[in-house]
Amino acid sequence: MNIHYFKYKLLAFVCVGIALSAFQSANYSEEKSTLTYQSKKDSVQTPANFGFGRKATQAEIDRLDIDVRPDGKGLPAGSGIVLKGKAIFETKCVACHGVGGIGGINGSLVTNKNPLDKKKEKTIGNYWPYATTVFDYVRRAMPFNAPGSLTNEEVYHLTAYLLNANEIIDDKTVINAQTLPKIVMPAQKLFVPDDRKGGPEIK
Ligand code: HEC
Repeated sequence: MNIHYFKYKLLAFVCVGIALSAFQSANYSEEKSTLTYQSKKDSVQTPANFGFGRKATQAEIDRLDIDVRPDGKGLPAGSGIVLKGKAIFETKCVACHGVGGIGGINGSLVTNKNPLDKKKEKTIGNYWPYATTVFDYVRRAMPFNAPGSLTNEEVYHLTAYLLNANEIIDDKTVINAQTLPKIVMPAQKLFVPDDRKGGPEIK
């Protein structure tokens, strides 16, 4: 290879190298400036609304805002008795939860006191810490095939029945917003509030 040819070749390489790196940095700075420009533009131009949706009405909020707390906050007006709850249970619940709330295809709700029963299922009677949860859960989730279809009165009757079937109340007790939160569940003592300090917030 002649020396002049080599010099030109080297020069050509160097030139291409410079051009490439200049192109890259130009590209880079252009990209950077576009990004900065875009983020400024977005934050300034966020519209006040997107042109769809509307404020929920109070009636719509009330339909969803149905939680009942352990202390009874959120319980509606109304009351329930065991006998009426039994009748409702036998038409709307028995198919999935069994006769008397024991041994249904979707699980028992009532503790089976029969010593021959080895299944030891978790039920309202042996596992639920708060009586108010029976009302809350049944109202929001049951019957499984038609949640939300029960009236408050029906839920009170069913709550009375399920508590009586689990031998927690007698068959004369009237269940309402005052009496239900006062019922102490057999399993409440099995739950210990975890108030240790210094770990994660949610344990
Ligand atoms: C079509 C079947 C079906 C019917 C009818 C039904 N349930 Fe249920 N129930 C289920 C299923 C399935 C679960 C479990 C749901 C889950 O774990 O998410 C369940 C769970 C429950 C639980 C919670 C049990 C626990 O210990 O976790 C209660 C209480 C309950 N049902 C009450 C009722 C009452 C009261 C009725 C009648 C108004 C009823 N169910 C009707 C299927 C049914």
